[in-house]
Amino acid sequence: MCFGVLSWLNIFYQPQNHTKEHEIYLVLSDSRTHTNFIAKFMYLIFMFFCIFLCPNILILQKVNIQKRIVLAPMNEKIQKENEKIFKEPLKIGDLTLPTRVLPAPMAGISERAFRDLLRRFGCGLVYTEMISAEGLVRGGKKTWDIMDIDGEDFPVAIQIFGSSAEVLTEAGRIAEAKGATLLDLNLGCPVRKVVNSQSGSALLRNPDYLRKIFSSIRKAVKIPLTIKMRSGFGDNPRAAFEIAPIAEGEGIDAICLHPRTREQFFKGSSDWSQIAEMKSLIKIPLIGNGDIFSAEDAVKMVKETGCDAIMIGRGALGRPWIFENIIQILEKAMPLESVKEPSFSELIEIIRLHYRFIISRKPERKAIREMRKHIIYYFKGFPYAKDFRAKWMGAESFKEVESLLSELSKINPPPFLQEIGFS
Ligand SMILES: Cc1cc2nc3c(=O)[nH]c(=O)nc-3n(C[C@H](O)[C@H](O)[C@H](O)COP(=O)(O)O)c2cc1C
Repeated sequence: MCFGVLSWLNIFYQPQNHTKEHEIYLVLSDSRTHTNFIAKFMYLIFMFFCIFLCPNILILQKVNIQKRIVLAPMNEKIQKENEKIFKEPLKIGDLTLPTRVLPAPMAGISERAFRDLLRRFGCGLVYTEMISAEGLVRGGKKTWDIMDIDGEDFPVAIQIFGSSAEVLTEAGRIAEAKGATLLDLNLGCPVRKVVNSQSGSALLRNPDYLRKIFSSIRKAVKIPLTIKMRSGFGDNPRAAFEIAPIAEGEGIDAICLHPRTREQFFKGSSDWSQIAEMKSLIKIPLIGNGDIFSAEDAVKMVKETGCDAIMIGRGALGRPWIFENIIQILEKAMPLESVKEPSFSELIEIIRLHYRFIISRKPERKAIREMRKHIIYYFKGFPYAKDFRAKWMGAESFKEVESLLSELSKINPPPFLQEIGFS
């Protein structure tokens, strides 16, 4: 709008005190009166667009945003069933979980401190990030360090990845002996290094071999055994639909589906209709995963797909309270409008708690490095996030971090955060 007004002034303003450049300008204008007329006409149209159409477009966008959270119409009976299901505990094999809202395993994120933090927000089961079966069997120190569940509050699921039935089976035994409550097999990782080693989503290409893997691990471990898969790979984009009944037949206790193919990585949106389709194919619990970033999304997925549980990954980055919000809506029957984001001072307290969980287990330098990646997410989308982050990235010791935290907790909250809804 401002640009439009300035352009308008610029076109009709004729300088009175002519400098040499002005004279040249006027001469040029005179010799191009015709062109100048067209230019003025174009600016008039531009102004019209600025004044009348832009606000309309903004209104339309608003309507679209609102539309996104309008729930899809659904058979009333199924809807009632779903609502009932989410108020009951989830049974996976002989394990009973108090909640059906689960955090997704995330490499580099689902470390011990993050898992401890998630429990504070109601997660009844937490996952380690994917752990190399090869590394576990070979006794690699780095791999064993990732399986850091000693003394952890239970239940905790260990996720493994690998390519060989023998190695995966041995790794399953190790995870069970270490104290895992549940063993999950990764059939979804799209990363090239993992795929090149025939692990993760690459296994979706070989349903027959997967049958062997399932049956071998199933015989070796007593704890609940689950799989987490994408919908397909390469020329079989719907491999998951072939694999799900095999898994059920071999004694897998639950399936998590992230309905994107390997080739999609995180592109586009996940196809929730595939979760609904898989639900009608199997009797064991189905966990729906993909693109849940809000309580509205969670309600929508449950209503649209009829899944037995939901799993949230990226939506929890820098927003661990998302689980509490969704549990309140889906399992405690609170109205959608009651969902609240934390206040600024609460956010700082959450960051402090997360940081304390990290430093209780890691030496100073490692702890500060681990916290930095979470800080990027905590302040993502804030106006002036760059300044916040720069301060954090500069902190090199516990002392500096502590003083930064107390400095932040004194701000109550800055005006630009009040503008975006922080109290
Ligand atoms: C940073 C990052 C790390 C991930 N690491 C793992 C992993 O270790 N194991 C796994 O099964 N999936 C992993 N995933 C995939 C997520 O578990 C989840 O399936 C995916 O992000 C889709 O869910 P979302 O849309 O809620 O994020 C990872 C995703 C992200 C973003």
